Amino acid sequence: MSAPEAVIFDAYGTLLDINAAMAAQAARLGPRWEALSAEWRAKQLEYTWVRSLTGAAHHEDFWLCTRDALDFVFARHGIADRALAVDLMQAYRTLPPYPEVPAMLQGLREQGIGTAILSNGTPGMLADALEAAGIAPLVDEVLSVEEVGVFKPDPRVYRLATRQYGCPPDRLVFVSANAWDAQAAHAFNMRVVRVKRAAAPDEYGLDAAGVPVLRDLSGLQDLVA
Ligand code: LAC
Repeated sequence: MSAPEAVIFDAYGTLLDINAAMAAQAARLGPRWEALSAEWRAKQLEYTWVRSLTGAAHHEDFWLCTRDALDFVFARHGIADRALAVDLMQAYRTLPPYPEVPAMLQGLREQGIGTAILSNGTPGMLADALEAAGIAPLVDEVLSVEEVGVFKPDPRVYRLATRQYGCPPDRLVFVSANAWDAQAAHAFNMRVVRVKRAAAPDEYGLDAAGVPVLRDLSGLQDLVA
């Protein structure tokens, strides 16, 4: 790879550990916490996709999609503890980064490579998360879908990055742990790197298309250098 104009990161599940909120409340949720966390994420994403596909009048921001998804999971499993829901939402506001993330961002900075986040998150959610994670000073630009009022994988979202950097998409590297997000960036003609923290089958023919896969983000610097 020749050095890119910038590296653009997905936030939730790529830089920020989306299972940390329920993990921290495992004692109150019981052994099903991991399944509940996966269901919360799946429902959250479903809500973003349906709200995008049904049109601008139906847009609700990522914070509300996240809250509605949690309410659904609680109702489905008969969990009535409202204080627990409040605590989980609070924790989602300040999700921790994966352990290798601060050093990786610092390394890119030292290499003179620009960094940005391109996320479904609202500007407020992203600001709170980056602040709490201590990585706000290491990220040059924070781009939120709220600027275009539609969620990933709509191409208008990925265009926010090319507009920000004033360059063609293949001058940007997009990094995501979400296969569907990687697929969209690939279709938009960005260079894509996938993070697969756990074994998972290939999707969208990304492996065949030669999209590199990392087990975590510590190998990213070498890949983009
Ligand atoms: C994001 C979600 C998709 O940060 O993880 O955009």
